[in-house]
Amino acid sequence: MELCRIYFLLFWAFQLVYAQKTTDPNEVDALNKIIIHWNLSGKLNLTTDPCSQNASWAPENANPRIACDCTGSTCHITNLKIYALDIFGEIPQELFLLKELMDLNLGQNVLSGPLPAEIGQLSKMQYLSLGINNLTGPVPPELGNLNKLISLSFSSNNFNGTLPTQLGMLTSLQQLYIDSSGVSGPIPQELANLKALQTLWASDNGFTGILPEFFGNLTELIDLRLQGTSLEGPIPGSFGALTKLVNLRIGDLSKEDSTLDFLENQTSLSILSLRNCRVSGEIPERIGTFAKLQYLDLSFNKLTGQIPNSFQNFSLLQNLYLGNNNLSGDLPSNIISPNLIALDVSFNPISGNLPPNFAKVGFSMNVLRTSINANSLLDRKAIGMLQCLQNECTNQVQASSFSIKCGGMEQTSSSGIKFDNDSESLRAASLYTNSNDQWAVSNTGNFISNPNGPQYIVTTETQITNTLDSELYKTARISPSSLRYYGLGLENGKYNVELHFAEITMDDSQSWKGLGRRLFDIYIQGERVVQDFNIQKEAGGSKRALIKTFEANVTKTIIEIHFFWAGKGTCCIPFQSTYGPLVSAIHVYQASNAGFSAKRDKKRVGKLFGIAVGSAAGFLIMSSIFYLWWIKDKSGHMQVHTNSPSKGYFH
Ligand SMILES: *[C@@H]1O[C@H](CO)[C@@H](O)[C@H](O)[C@H]1NC(C)=O
Ligand SMILES: *[C@@H]1O[C@H](CO)[C@@H](O)[C@H](O)[C@H]1NC(C)=O
Ligand SMILES: *[C@@H]1O[C@H](CO)[C@@H](O)[C@H](O)[C@H]1NC(C)=O
Ligand SMILES: *[C@@H]1O[C@H](CO)[C@@H](O)[C@H](O)[C@H]1NC(C)=O
Ligand SMILES: *[C@@H]1O[C@H](CO)[C@@H](O)[C@H](O)[C@H]1NC(C)=O
Ligand SMILES: *[C@@H]1O[C@H](CO)[C@@H](O)[C@H](O)[C@H]1NC(C)=O
Ligand SMILES: *[C@@H]1O[C@H](CO)[C@@H](O)[C@H](O)[C@H]1NC(C)=O
Ligand SMILES: *[C@@H]1O[C@H](CO)[C@@H](O)[C@H](O)[C@H]1NC(C)=O
Ligand SMILES: *[C@@H]1O[C@H](CO)[C@@H](O)[C@H](O)[C@H]1NC(C)=O
Ligand SMILES: *[C@@H]1O[C@H](CO)[C@@H](O)[C@H](O)[C@H]1NC(C)=O
Ligand SMILES: *[C@@H]1O[C@H](CO)[C@@H](O)[C@H](O)[C@H]1NC(C)=O
Repeated sequence: MELCRIYFLLFWAFQLVYAQKTTDPNEVDALNKIIIHWNLSGKLNLTTDPCSQNASWAPENANPRIACDCTGSTCHITNLKIYALDIFGEIPQELFLLKELMDLNLGQNVLSGPLPAEIGQLSKMQYLSLGINNLTGPVPPELGNLNKLISLSFSSNNFNGTLPTQLGMLTSLQQLYIDSSGVSGPIPQELANLKALQTLWASDNGFTGILPEFFGNLTELIDLRLQGTSLEGPIPGSFGALTKLVNLRIGDLSKEDSTLDFLENQTSLSILSLRNCRVSGEIPERIGTFAKLQYLDLSFNKLTGQIPNSFQNFSLLQNLYLGNNNLSGDLPSNIISPNLIALDVSFNPISGNLPPNFAKVGFSMNVLRTSINANSLLDRKAIGMLQCLQNECTNQVQASSFSIKCGGMEQTSSSGIKFDNDSESLRAASLYTNSNDQWAVSNTGNFISNPNGPQYIVTTETQITNTLDSELYKTARISPSSLRYYGLGLENGKYNVELHFAEITMDDSQSWKGLGRRLFDIYIQGERVVQDFNIQKEAGGSKRALIKTFEANVTKTIIEIHFFWAGKGTCCIPFQSTYGPLVSAIHVYQASNAGFSAKRDKKRVGKLFGIAVGSAAGFLIMSSIFYLWWIKDKSGHMQVHTNSPSKGYFH
């Protein structure tokens, strides 16, 4: 009874105190102006005091959200979230009157104009997110005043200039997300002071200079991503001290070679990608003791020696990419560890036999341009075509054109070109040859952050403009790493390579969803013909067709068209893992043939070979082209890098 009374009194005392509290009128006034400025009154209708405890905008999961600190005599706004609501216009000065803000989330909107220097007045800030907006101008040095910051994001914006050295004053910072932010130039040495940093995403920026040694001093780092920059190698030995790393993705380093010497104590690594980094030397056996690895990508480097036997010991590894190196020796016979689902050893002078369990359900493997013995799988009729890929098929040459509907079903264009069916489901390390052996397609790579997303084919229902052949562009092949098409058995001579593109996953709406950038490179016959290709920009918008035509010489009956991701572009707009090459259709014809396939001979020599491994769901079909171990060039050497499409990566 007595207890009840006490509670009752306490309750009223609380109500009294609470009722007397009001929010700082300057803040209320500022907030109202912000709401008008960003046209938010429909979503944030301040019918009561903004700090009312039971207001609709107060709960943690509300959006927009306002939360306050009411411990003093007046309430102050401490949290403001306006996330993914497509507010647009500039950042208004009134925002900087909310002096007690600790957590400001304006992510995934279409804010434009500069980030005003006054941001530096919000010195209580701990969490600041401006990621995925359309902000321009410099990154203000005044950010350095926010020395309580724990997390800062200005990823995916259009800032310019260098990173301010003052960011080095943010010594409490644990997370820094600045990928695709637009900044360029050297990475300031002052960032060496960010000793608490655990997460640094800095890919797809125009950083120059040498990959800084001081990163090795940021020993709390768990997640470091630095792909698609203009940084030069080598990877400093100081990275050996980053023993807490779980996720390390470095890519696209130029100039100096790197080695894997720094990898010894990073035993927590789960994802390790050092793709296209000019890594030379051998793969140390000890990497096989990184027991937590699930994803290992060392492709497009200059590695030599053998695949370590210790790789047979991986227990969690799912994806292993070793393609485009100079690895030799035999494939370890137990390389397919229990959880491995994708193995890419393509473009290496590796020999040996297919691992005994290569046919396991759900597993895909790419052995294109290796010397691995495919004898056990060989369909006798395939020998002729294999010799074609070996550049020795002069007696079987018949075609002077081919056309492929990348990622889609056979269709005939308005000008009468028949584009072949290419709707086979590719996998993370796949090769497929079409039914009449006129062409082949090879894919490697895995959309790490979105393993269950679109699997290498994208589609749209939207009409495609700027073309009479809208249907041709409604499906496309995509790849997170490397997508190669081969024309086989072609008459030697001069060809036109017509590549059809339309951006169908990114849009150009006036929304944060319209802020994505897709960039990739195109190589034909090993020569880079386009760098940083942006379909949307060049076509003048998304869902607009674009045809690019290149000349190419066929001297050895084969043409190779390679679409390659060099780490650039946004990663995740409008969906996770929206990046990398995309192609809608390919039409290749001899220059003298005016674009029509007059000379197609139906009596082509038989199949390459296809292995179909039925799962319960009857799903996996894996087809492969092998370079046969017994086929040697005239000097008796293994012929692995003839026609070397990897040429470009080493320059
Ligand atoms: C402001 O928002 C309302 C919906 O809340 C919308 O109908 C109106 O078009 C918006 N005004 C502008 C200028 O975007
Ligand atoms: C705000 O809420 C009040 C009271 O519920 C309502 O009368 C008014 O129309 C609302 N304003 C907007 C812009 O929705
Ligand atoms: C909380 O909500 C009730 C109605 O649900 C309202 O009567 C009361 O005034 C609100 N309290 C505050 C502090 O806003
Ligand atoms: C940044 O872009 C603005 C125009 O938006 C330009 O005036 C300025 O010179 C650029 N700054 C740098 C450092 O490139
Ligand atoms: C990095 O750490 C090393 C060794 O602890 C030290 O000598 C060096 O001065 C540090 N560098 C920076 C930039 O802090
Ligand atoms: C790994 O740790 C050991 C023991 O601390 C140390 O001697 C060695 O230099 C480290 N390796 C690298 C590559 O940093
Ligand atoms: C695999 O692991 C076992 C147990 O740790 C070890 O004895 C063996 O040497 C390892 N094999 C290789 C090839 O590293
Ligand atoms: C590949 O490695 C071999 C040694 O195994 C070497 O002789 C050859 O020059 C290397 N090729 C390239 C392109 O680096
Ligand atoms: C197109 O190719 C797919 C995948 O290889 C195959 O399942 C389908 O039957 C083919 N369709 C036609 C019309 O040939
Ligand atoms: C982003 O800003 C640029 C000008 O800087 C503008 O052309 C573009 O339309 C804006 N993007 C969106 C999605 O609003
Ligand atoms: C094709 O060969 C001709 C003659 O050898 C040469 O002039 C031309 O540059 C070559 N074209 C390409 C794209 O390599």
